Amino acid sequence: MKNVLILGATSDIAQAIAKKYAAEGWSLTLAALEPGLLGPIASDLEIRGDATVQTLEFDALDFSSHRKFYESIETKPDAAICVFGYMGDQDKARTDFDEVARTIGVNFTGAVSILNIVAEDFEKRGSGAIAGVSSVAGDRGRQSNYTYGSAKAGFTAYLSGLRNRLAKSGVHVMTVKPGFVRTKMTESLELPAALTAEPVQVADVVFQGLEKKRNTVYTLWMWRWVMLVIRHIPEFIFKKMKL
Ligand SMILES: NC(=O)c1ccc[n+]([C@@H]2O[C@H](COP(=O)([O-])OP(=O)(O)OC[C@H]3O[C@@H](n4cnc5c(N)ncnc54)[C@H](OP(=O)(O)O)[C@@H]3O)[C@@H](O)[C@H]2O)c1
Repeated sequence: MKNVLILGATSDIAQAIAKKYAAEGWSLTLAALEPGLLGPIASDLEIRGDATVQTLEFDALDFSSHRKFYESIETKPDAAICVFGYMGDQDKARTDFDEVARTIGVNFTGAVSILNIVAEDFEKRGSGAIAGVSSVAGDRGRQSNYTYGSAKAGFTAYLSGLRNRLAKSGVHVMTVKPGFVRTKMTESLELPAALTAEPVQVADVVFQGLEKKRNTVYTLWMWRWVMLVIRHIPEFIFKKMKL
């Protein structure tokens, strides 16, 4: 039975991904900041999904603990999916550097720290698949969320480089770029229905994308074209837009 490691497993998107993998017959290693919250999630997957589940504590910001964390995993994974993230408060980030450090720490440095360790193991084993959940926010910086966006842009570039490095080792790396998704992270925002995905839709795209060895997937699919247009707006116009 194949095993998937899900990092940030209490996230709404991660829970949908866990259900999808359980339904496809995989065993699961779920890692999250609050391991206590993983108990009910794991029980549900074991009872309703008939899955084998290991739960572990994982703090993306506790970089020095990441190697020990990975070594403690009983069944080394065949796939690793990095889902955790922190949107942060852009207004606060203008004056409070702790907010900037947390946003970059969770979305970029923490993700790089743990995926470097996963990649080292997969490369030695000559197999494995890695998916990183980045964001369309990383495709072009906007005044409303450029701290988060720049951390995700860094993560997207990291995943591209990692994919390039590992291609010859039989290890596949996929970048996931959600647009809007209805989750805890966006519950205070008014989201346009036509451009908003449900977590279960993201989970399907992640599972199918890794199976088909896609390099970059957008959810919903039209975000690929929305972002193509946004990336091509000339800067002299873009800088004056309220975004
Ligand atoms: N929702 C969207 O519209 C959207 C769009 C584009 C990209 N994304 C990305 O999708 C991913 C999942 O987000 P979501 O929408 O499912 O939101 P979510 O439910 O709020 O999930 C975010 C997760 O990150 C975890 N996390 C935060 N800081 C952490 C840390 N230091 N160590 C470990 N885990 C930490 C949170 O744990 P706690 O709850 O315990 O703090 C939570 O489980 C994120 O990477 C997000 O940036 C979301």
